[in-house]
Amino acid sequence: MNDTILSVSKLTKAYGHQTSKTYALSNVSFSVSEGSFTAIIGRSGSGKSTLLNTIGGLEAPSGGNVIVKGQDLYAMPDSARTAFRRRNIGYVFQFFNLIPELTVYENICLPSYLDRKRPDRNFTDQVMEKLGLISMQEKYPAELSGGEQQRTAVARALAHKPAILLADEPTGNLDRRNGDELMALLHFSHRFFRQTILLVTHDLEIARSAGRIITLEDGHILSDVGGDDL
Ligand SMILES: Nc1ncnc2c1ncn2[C@@H]1O[C@H](COP(=O)(O)OP(=O)(O)O)[C@@H](O)[C@H]1O
Ligand SMILES: [Mg+2]
Repeated sequence: MNDTILSVSKLTKAYGHQTSKTYALSNVSFSVSEGSFTAIIGRSGSGKSTLLNTIGGLEAPSGGNVIVKGQDLYAMPDSARTAFRRRNIGYVFQFFNLIPELTVYENICLPSYLDRKRPDRNFTDQVMEKLGLISMQEKYPAELSGGEQQRTAVARALAHKPAILLADEPTGNLDRRNGDELMALLHFSHRFFRQTILLVTHDLEIARSAGRIITLEDGHILSDVGGDDL
């Protein structure tokens, strides 16, 4: 269980010009083991989203490396990074970002379609079954309740078996009940599918449910507590 799946070293991200530089990240280093559940917490503006986007291959750092499954993300050409990201990173967005013109099943298969791969029907069926979506698969997002939409978004992030699932404040727009339900889904995915998860939150109670809490402050790691292989 202790294989390193992600390793971030000396990550720096600067915005602005020489005269007025903001360091969204400065010298951030840590590793994440396969199958672990890590929360990243910190105040608004502490660099959480920048860190997650950099790890997800969406935002190039100003310095440092992001190694996912032994591959240096930003040493790759852009096109290779895009393909690698699609294959290895799952995202759960705050607004779910389901495609209204696609059915639940098609939404769930979207990462595979983008990767020009045939979806693994056995696995997608298992994910849909475990997330209670089997009877919804031909429906469109507009026909779903909020809870069903979030289950679809989580199913989509799981269905291509990403090396890491990234979630940036996924409960940020949800009421308590839906927020708890989403967290329960992530914990279920972690346990049942052994999904490695990196979750950004500013809610300490949510962070405490993870095996490990990394606290960011002004772009650097203030503390890093808890085991890495829960
Ligand atoms: N595109 C950008 N241009 C300039 N500054 C940015 C940009 N994105 C983020 N920042 C700055 O970087 C810092 C960290 O932002 P962010 O990663 O969004 O923090 P968090 O997600 O913890 O709220 C903030 O000071 C923010 O203003
Ligand atoms: Mg943010």
